[in-house]
Amino acid sequence: MPPVTSQPVENGLTRAAIFLVVTLKDSPEVVPTLQSLLADLAGIVRGVGFRISDGELSCVAGIGSDAWGRLFPGPRPRDLHPFAEIDGVHRAVSTPGDVLFHIRASRMDLCFELATHLMARIGAVVTVEDETHGFKYFDDRDLIGFVDGTENPTGDDRVQATLIGDEDPGFRGGSYVIVQKYLHDLAAWEKIPVEQQERIIGRKKLSDIELLDADKPPYAHNVLTSITDEDGNALDILRDNMPFGRPGAGEYGTYFIGYAKTPAVTERMLHNMFVGNPPGTYDRLLDVSRAVTGTLFFVPPASMLEDAGSDAAVAKVPARGEDGRAKPD
Ligand code: HEM
Repeated sequence: MPPVTSQPVENGLTRAAIFLVVTLKDSPEVVPTLQSLLADLAGIVRGVGFRISDGELSCVAGIGSDAWGRLFPGPRPRDLHPFAEIDGVHRAVSTPGDVLFHIRASRMDLCFELATHLMARIGAVVTVEDETHGFKYFDDRDLIGFVDGTENPTGDDRVQATLIGDEDPGFRGGSYVIVQKYLHDLAAWEKIPVEQQERIIGRKKLSDIELLDADKPPYAHNVLTSITDEDGNALDILRDNMPFGRPGAGEYGTYFIGYAKTPAVTERMLHNMFVGNPPGTYDRLLDVSRAVTGTLFFVPPASMLEDAGSDAAVAKVPARGEDGRAKPD
């Protein structure tokens, strides 16, 4: 079997990003327009990115559950479903999204240019549900002042955590991504003494050093989001959170984006944060951070995107029985 090329899911974290979430309008043009853009996406990224050779421009496209069958007729990725709202101590809302474009570069002008080209192709047939322009803040800190991204998996662990393998052979090299846009009440956060903020996150604020396990409360963010399988192996996701905001409007936020080879891992972390583990022991970060969006997407392998709209896209994916397993030819 030829090797599968993945989309640039595990590219390094960059200084700038645009998160564009769109839904499909009810138009006869919408499916061919989107399919043709997805098939051309890698070429458009090359065209824009080549102008600034060290600009690290990349774009990952994700497809939402409702749009999958329309854009990619044929079998469905095993774990693709709409993001399920979580109603715990705090609420993780589920909001519409058919296609996500996660555009990353070392400079915002590159992200902006690419987003402009994408919208020129699809603007007439989609509704933009959310567009967030993210930037890296001092020392890779988020707007609550903590360094964000330190414990991301690296090397082989990164590939293992994010890319689908033999568990869903027709979609090998794909990934899942969950996005949530959080708005912070920074005035309330800043009233919390730094020592308590550190207990909420589980790390020192200035030095970014992890607190000793004995000093972490059970509700620490890094306690609730450190999860394992039944054999005790760590279950990781790859995050590329970005601060965003409009000081003039009093808006300060973190755009959360988490890639994983199954959304179940991210969903369990979210359950721990919003409901608590055990229930009630929830993430205190949520007392000052409100999720205003929440959407789940499947990230097809690059080769599948290139075939969007062609017969090859259907032919390459093995048929699946009712049990979800691929059927032999
Ligand atoms: C308001 C939104 C969020 C903020 C500001 C935030 C911030 C942080 C910070 C500062 C850290 C410590 C440094 C690091 O390892 O990156 C961290 C760790 C982490 N966060 Fe978040 N986070 C947010 C939402 C989430 C969500 C929604 C998830 C998962 C569903 C998540 C999963 C994780 C994981 C897995 C770690 C690493 C834990 C470890 O292994 O130590 N975060 N986050």
